[in-house]
Order: sequence, then C-alpha cells, then structure tokens
Amino acid sequence: MNGSLKISPRIIELSLGLLATILIASGLLAYAWQEPQRIEQAQAAQLATDLNEAKNLYAENCAVCHGLAGDGIGAIPALNSAALVGSDPASLAKIIARGLYNTAMPAWAQEDGGPLSDYQIDELVGLIRYGDWTQVQERVINLGLAPMVPFTTEADPDILAQVAQLPGGELLAQGISLYAQECVACHGADGLGTSLAPALNDPVVREQTAEDLTRTVIYGVSGTLMATWENALSQPEVEMLVNLIRNWDQVPSGAIPAPVRPIPVTTESLALGEQIFSTTCIGCHGAQGEGTQRAPSLNVKGFLTDTSDAAIEQIVTLGVTGTSMPAWGDRISTAEIQAVVGFIRSWEPDAPEVAQPSRVTGPWWKAAGSPVAAGVTSGQALPSGGTTTTYTPNTGAQADGTGQGTGTAGGGGHTGTQPWAVSNEPQSWWESIDPRSLAVIGGLALGSLILILWAAIKLYRLPHPIHSI
Ligand code: HEC
Ligand code: HEC
Ligand code: HEC
Repeated sequence: MNGSLKISPRIIELSLGLLATILIASGLLAYAWQEPQRIEQAQAAQLATDLNEAKNLYAENCAVCHGLAGDGIGAIPALNSAALVGSDPASLAKIIARGLYNTAMPAWAQEDGGPLSDYQIDELVGLIRYGDWTQVQERVINLGLAPMVPFTTEADPDILAQVAQLPGGELLAQGISLYAQECVACHGADGLGTSLAPALNDPVVREQTAEDLTRTVIYGVSGTLMATWENALSQPEVEMLVNLIRNWDQVPSGAIPAPVRPIPVTTESLALGEQIFSTTCIGCHGAQGEGTQRAPSLNVKGFLTDTSDAAIEQIVTLGVTGTSMPAWGDRISTAEIQAVVGFIRSWEPDAPEVAQPSRVTGPWWKAAGSPVAAGVTSGQALPSGGTTTTYTPNTGAQADGTGQGTGTAGGGGHTGTQPWAVSNEPQSWWESIDPRSLAVIGGLALGSLILILWAAIKLYRLPHPIHSI
C-alpha cells in the first residue's frame, strides 16, 4: 500500500445513510420493546390511584352500613365476599348506581339523585374486585369514620337466669340474647334507642300487633338503616325478637348493657393522637398525661378502666363546662379527637394505680413539658410516609394566652386532607416523565439551538452596518 487510501464520497454517503437508517430502526425497536411495559406500568399506577380514591369513597359513603372493612353490619351484606369479587363488574356498577329497590341500599349515581359520578362508581367496583380490605379498614379508621355499629354486647347472666324462671321466660331470655347480638348497636341498651334508631322498649311499639312487628323485622323499613332481616334471621329467631319487643315491660332494666365500643386504632392514628396530645393537651394534662395542678391525670388506672372510649370522646368533644377543659369538638376534627382517645387508651396497660401529677409554674402554655418549652419536634414523618406538616405546632396560637391551643390542624373533617389520604406510594419525579415527551422536548431544544447558532453565524458574516456606511 502506498499511502493515499482513497474513499469515494459515494461510499461515505452510502454508509452515512445506512447508519442513519440503523439508528432510526433501533430507536423504533427499543420503543416498541418498552411500550408494553410502559403501558402496563401506567395502568398499574392508574389502578393504584383509583383504588386509593375508592378507599376514601368507601369510608365516606359505604362504611356506615357495610362495615369497617366491608364485612357487613347486622343484616347488611358484606362487600368483601368472594362471590362479589367474581361477579360481573357491570352488574355491580348497576347495583351501586341504582341501589336495590325496597331495601336500605340507596342509589348512588348522580342521574338517580346520588352523589357519585360514573367514574367514582367504577372506582368502587374496582375496590370490591381488587381492593385490600385491611387497607380499607385503616383508611376508614384514619378518617375517623369507623362505624360504631358493628359491636354487640352480652346480656347480664344473672338477669338472664332470673328472666328464664318466669312463665314463658325461656323464649324471652333467648330474645334478650339475640337482641344483644344483633340489634343493640342501633336500638340501644335495654332497647331504649340511640341516635341511630328509635327505642323498641316503648309502649307505643309494644302495642303493635305481632304481625306488624314481624313484617318490620323481616322486610325492614325501606330507605332507613333498618335492613331486611329476612336472610339473616330464621323464622323462630324473628319470633323470639317480636316476643321480646311485646313483653319488654317484664324485663328488668340492666339486662342488656350498652356495647363497649373501643375506638379502633392504626399506627397512623396513634401517631396522630400522640402528635395532637403533645401539641394541645400536655400543657394542662402533663407530658405523659400524669396531670398537673391545672388538670387531672388521664394516665391512671382508675380513670382508664372506669371511662369508656365513647365517654372520653364525649368529654374531649364537649369539654367540661365551668372548668378550663375546652370543648375540642369545634377546634379539631372527629378523626383527630378519636386519634387522641386511641392514644390515651394506649396508656392503659402500663398506667400507674396512683396519679403523680407533675408540678408546673407559670401559665400553662409555658409549663414544663408544654410543646413550646419542650420544643416538641413535630412534622416527623408518619409511618405512612406522609409528613405531618399540617400539624406543625403553631406556637403563635399556643402563646396567645387564651389557654386554648388550637392544634392548628388545618385539614380536619372528612375531606381527605389527612396526611395519609394522599397516595402512600411515593413516585420519584423522574418516574413520572414520559420518555417520549423528553425526546420531543430534547429534539425541539436541539433544533432551536442549531437555528440560533446558524442565525448567529449569518449575522456575524453580515457586513457590519458601521463599516458599510
Ligand atoms: C343505608 C345503608 C347502606 C349504605 C350507606 C350502602 N349500602 Fe350497599 N347495601 C345495603 C343493603 C341493605 C344491601 C342489601 C340489600 C338487599 O339485597 O337486601 C346492600 C347491598 C349492596 C350491594 C350488593 C351486595 C350483594 O351481596 O349483592 C353492593 C355491591 C353494595 N351494597 C355496595 C354499596 C356501596 C359501594 C356503597 C357506598 C357507595 C353502599 N353499598 C352503601 C345498604 C347500604
Ligand atoms: C343498623 C341499625 C339497625 C339495626 C342493627 C336494627 N335496626 Fe331496627 N330500626 C332501625 C331504624 C333506623 C329504625 C327506624 C326506621 C324508621 O324510620 O321507621 C328501626 C325500626 C325498627 C322497628 C320499628 C319500630 C317502630 O317504631 O315501629 C322494629 C320493630 C325494629 N327496628 C326491630 C329491630 C330488630 C328486632 C333488630 C335486630 C334484629 C333491629 N331492629 C336492628 C335501625 C336498626
Ligand atoms: C387549659 C387546660 C386544658 C387543656 C389544654 C386540656 N384540658 Fe382536659 N381537662 C382540663 C381540666 C381542668 C379538666 C378537669 C375538668 C373537671 O373538673 O371535671 C380536664 C379534664 C379532662 C378529661 C376528663 C378527666 C377526668 O378525670 O374526668 C379528659 C379525658 C381530658 N381533659 C382530655 C383532654 C385532652 C385529650 C386534651 C387535648 C386535646 C385536653 N384535655 C386539653 C384542662 C385542660
């Protein structure tokens, strides 16, 4: 070889063309290979978002009847059943949209006067088919929407034995036990009624004929919480209950106590409860609830064993008139109050027998152990991964001297502003970027850069105006 290796421009042109074709083809191939995966990921992400929204919808609209975790309440059917998972999505959507005629199941579609859009109904169908009911339960609790109705109670055994001695007492005693199991949650202790349902232990109800009462129990009262018990109770069971209702004047009071309704908790609700307690309550009740001169101990055996969750919730909500215990009901949401009650209840196993209030001096908001003095660090991450930025203690509000910290819980209510109402699956920002849009933006940017460079060169080469004069 003698040096000058000549490559014809034709060959250069050809190979450049080939190279470009290969580049374009491999780009297309890579895209085609990735596209199904990308679609799958996008669909999974969409499903997760929908399921997340559906949990809120369920908590807000359905839990009151279908239970904390879709397990049904009384005669109202469960939604977490295998039968429903396998059922046709279109007919599920139809049931939810139109309701079930002549039962307590209302119509939810906006066209039928309900509150939900078709998309939301589909999300609920998705929840019934793919949802994780443990997560639903947590969401319902975290939103403070846990229904208080699924709880039953046990009839007093002594009174029960006493009743069984009466003539016809056997049937009456059976009715009492069954009532304590199925009806007490709504119709209340000793049948005296609750905010959910009227008293049955009432002369007016007693005067109804057995046929009328049987009809009510079997078919329910359409459009109310009184469901159809036709499928949940046998004929003899219905007779027992009707017999009880008609003979309630013979049953000593105290036979059927009110159910103890512990407030359910989750890790998140306990963390929230601790957060609220340490920003709002410790100034008066002490850092560990041990009490101060300003307020009694809450962390003591006697108080905790004697006071039910419902009672504590009521005290915290309504306050104690005539004392410095504020009514928190109009300052923090039900969910937050329930979270605090759950947190206070968590002391019970280790609570001391005798309270040892800590001594404090100065106004309560400067008390040792008050959030300001102790420099409580809020805004820690909740286990859910959300951060409690909404609950960052507002020292301004605490020091305003009204003696009533606000807890600064901006969210509140059932509107889903709680930190855990947002998706728990954090997405890195780059994951949410579509590679195609990146390519388009990159291409446009490159194109405009070339244009600018080209224009600059042209301008530079233009005869200078001053010189040309
Ligand atoms: C006021 C009480 C109530 C509320 C609130 C309620 N339901 Fe129902 N639901 C019922 C009753 C009662 C039935 C059973 C009716 C029957 O067949 O006797 C039922 C039945 C159903 C069924 C059919 C179950 C089956 O096994 O066939 C579905 C699905 C359902 N409800 C979904 C929902 C959804 C979703 C919500 C919330 C948007 C909701 N329900 C809210 C009372 C209620
Ligand atoms: C989920 C709540 C709930 C449960 C559980 C429940 N009921 Fe009811 N019940 C109601 C409501 C609400 C009404 C009032 C309906 C109305 O507005 O007419 C009612 C009404 C009644 C009435 C008619 C009372 C009257 O004034 O005429 C009878 C009888 C009755 N219930 C019996 C029972 C029995 C027996 C059980 C247990 C098997 C039971 N209920 C369980 C909510 C409930
Ligand atoms: C400004 C001071 C103050 C603050 C702040 C305060 N409390 Fe109280 N609390 C009191 C006083 C005083 C009592 C006693 C009332 C009485 O005499 O019955 C009390 C009583 C109670 C009781 C009933 C105790 C019993 O033995 O009967 C509970 C429960 C309670 N508070 C919970 C809370 C919770 C939860 C918070 C925070 C959300 C809170 N308190 C914040 C002053 C306060």
